[in-house]
Amino acid sequence: MLFLQLITCFSFMQICTADETKLKVKAASKPVRLFTDEELRNYDGTEEGQPIYMAIKGVVFDVTSGKKFYGKGAAYNALVGKDSTRAVAKMSLDPKDLTHDVAGLTEKELESLESVFTGTYKSKYPIVGYTSRRILNEDGSPNEDFKPEDQPNFSVRAEL
Ligand code: HEM
Repeated sequence: MLFLQLITCFSFMQICTADETKLKVKAASKPVRLFTDEELRNYDGTEEGQPIYMAIKGVVFDVTSGKKFYGKGAAYNALVGKDSTRAVAKMSLDPKDLTHDVAGLTEKELESLESVFTGTYKSKYPIVGYTSRRILNEDGSPNEDFKPEDQPNFSVRAEL
């Protein structure tokens, strides 16, 4: 009888400890994947069947549903597989603008960037992660100020 009580007590303790462990671990609200430049290049639309990703302001969007714009040989294929913030701000496909670098952009270009970022990308394409440049500081330590983007206008149902 005592043996049975001990077993029951032990099992109960295990459940309690497990619950405690669960409570201590706070789940992230959305999964966040980090992309290096090299990783992002794998999603440039070259490989059939592979998703197509593009980053703007360090936010990585899955633009596969816009394959007619971004797929291999399509008009905006140069923008994908990388962070194309500058190109989008300037509405340019010049290779020198295919970069995350926003140095020297005009007020108007920055406004245009915000408008396309929110009005087109955030409302049309799901966010799949962030570039390492946005999540990490230059010395590789985590950027404590990092905050995932809200995507209030995006609905998976609308995309299907
Ligand atoms: C003669 C020049 C251009 C014309 C006539 C043109 C035309 C268009 C049109 C009609 C759309 C909307 C397509 C649709 O929603 O079905 C579009 C979207 C777009 N264009 Fe252009 N475009 C031009 C140049 C550029 C350049 C230089 C860039 C460089 C970044 C650019 C970037 C984009 C982007 C990012 C979209 C959004 C695609 C999406 O919805 O995912 N366009 N363009």
